[in-house]
This record gives sequence, C-alpha cells and structure tokens, in this order.
Amino acid sequence: MKKQYYRYQLTALFVLLISGVLRSFGQEGKVITSGAIWPDTDGQHINAHGGGILFHEGTYYWYGEKRGDKTSSGGVAVYSSTNLYDWKNEGIALSPSNDPESDITLGCIMERPKVIYNSKTDKYVMWFHLELKGQGYAAARAGVAVSEKPTGPFRFVSSFRPNGNMSRDMNLYVDDDGSAYHIYSSDENMDLRIVKLSDDFLSATTDDTFLFRRQREAPALFKYKNKYYLITSGCTGWAPNQASIHVADQIRGPYTLLGDPMRGPDAEKTFGGQSTYVLPVQGKKDAFIFMADIWRPKNLQDSRYIWLPVRLDAEVPYIEWMDEWELNWFK
Ligand code: DGJ
Repeated sequence: MKKQYYRYQLTALFVLLISGVLRSFGQEGKVITSGAIWPDTDGQHINAHGGGILFHEGTYYWYGEKRGDKTSSGGVAVYSSTNLYDWKNEGIALSPSNDPESDITLGCIMERPKVIYNSKTDKYVMWFHLELKGQGYAAARAGVAVSEKPTGPFRFVSSFRPNGNMSRDMNLYVDDDGSAYHIYSSDENMDLRIVKLSDDFLSATTDDTFLFRRQREAPALFKYKNKYYLITSGCTGWAPNQASIHVADQIRGPYTLLGDPMRGPDAEKTFGGQSTYVLPVQGKKDAFIFMADIWRPKNLQDSRYIWLPVRLDAEVPYIEWMDEWELNWFK
C-alpha cells in the first residue's frame, strides 16, 4: 500500500517536472524590452495601443488601438499569444463603419479598447472610449461591441455616456464574483467614476459611483490580497506625466492615495509612458504586469510599449524600470 503511494507520488513529481521543462522549452533567450519595437510573428511592430489583455482557454488576446500615421483611428486590433512574448496578428477585431450614420463611422476615434468574456451569454464584450467623427474629444462616450469569437469580428452595439456622465479614458474589471465594472474619467477628466455593467455586460447599470476628483486618466485596476489598487496618470494629452496609485478595500472605494508607484530613471514621468492595463499572469500566484504606452503623437503607430512586473515586496506595490526582463522573473 505504502509502496504504491510512493510510486504515485514519484510519478506525479515526474509529470510536474516534465511539464515545467516542456513549458520553458523554446522560451530561452526571450525577453521583454520596454520602449523598443516589438515585432509580431510576421516581423511587424505590434499595433495595439492603449490596450488590454483577455486570457481565455489557454490563450492571451491583446486588444488595442490600430493606429496609422497621425492620429487616424484604424479600429481595434487583436493579437494572440500563449507565452506573452510571441504575438500573432489576428487582424481587426472591430472596424470603423462605412455607414455615415454609424457612431463608429470612418473618422471616429476609438481608444483604449478592453474585452471581457461573459460566461452567461458565451460572448466576448468590448468596451472602448469613442469620440464621434469631426467632434474632437467633445462626445466623450463609451462604446460597446460584441462577438461570438475572441478574435472577432465584433459587432458594434451602442455608444452612450453612462448615466449621462462624460466617459473618456477607461478600463474594465471583472471581480471574483463575476460582476464587471467600467472605470472611467468623467466631467472633463476631473472625476474618476466606476459603473457596474448589466448581467450581459452590454450596458451600464445605475450602480455608478464617484471615486475621486483629482484630474486623472488612464485607469488600470488590479486586486491583490483583497485590496483594489488603481494606477492612473495625470492629464497632459500625449505627453507623459506622473503616475499615482490608490488603494481601497471595496471596489467602489473609498480610495486612498498612496503616491507614485514608479521607481528608476524618469520614474516621475512614468518612464515616458502612460498606464493602460495591469495584467494578471496566468498560472502564477500574485504575478502582475504593468502595461503602458509611450505615445508618439506625430506617428501614433510607432508608439512603444512598457511592460514591467508589479513588485509586491514592499507595503505598497511598485514598478521598477528594467531595460529587459524575462517572465521567469515571477517565481
Ligand atoms: C490622453 C489619453 O490617455 C489618450 O488615450 C488620448 O486620449 C490622449 N490623451 C489624446 O490627447
């Protein structure tokens, strides 16, 4: 009986060891280099700015703004990866429309797209910041689109101001109980708010909370040890500025300002970037990647990415610059 038990233990250990070796096989020499050109599997610089990542059934999907030269908006691009280093271009998840009557008619601005999966409807739901054609940044709306597949094509559903509130920079967050939230800059970016989504994630409910009035944008929320951490930027257009991190015990706040979480050269300017997402790394406990954009407003498609681990070895989570790093940085 005992012998059999040990044999079972040994086999389990062996299987674990082999799967670990297999998983790391082919990953040697791969690094994440913030600020550099990041070629996709076709050798083209990844064009998915202001993005966010969905992990679904073993694959990461990176959604972001497809940009051309100048500020023109090419819709929402999607890339897929199983190792977070190599990204395959999956095309356009949501295209601007040729219909001049559509809210997303060619010439509109789509920014900061995020996608979440709804298990009740078995649909992928995208929210983004929408500016109507020819109106600059005056419309300040949230846009919603839906798809049967993570790579799209997504079908535009509607655009609106949640509960009448202006909605510019935004993010989505799905909590442990499956409830989803839209976090957004409102009232000319003076306020930050959070609104709970409907069960199908396609609309905003009236459960809409004012968080604080500190003129912040680029919100990125993550949960660690039952606390909600919210990283934001200041509002200086495409120019980098100082990031801050807030903490709260409840998703609707109250949020306490903890300071600037960035460390290293140019930390007070977020290393030249602006937050866009905090990605929980799958299969690792308490492993988060801070994602930001280094905007190149004269040629937005050439904007670069910052990906750095969130460090959790101090009382307040922080992000330290590294020229390059490997995912095995996470134990
Ligand atoms: C800052 C925002 O964070 C970006 O998404 C973009 O809207 C620029 N402003 C435009 O100036």
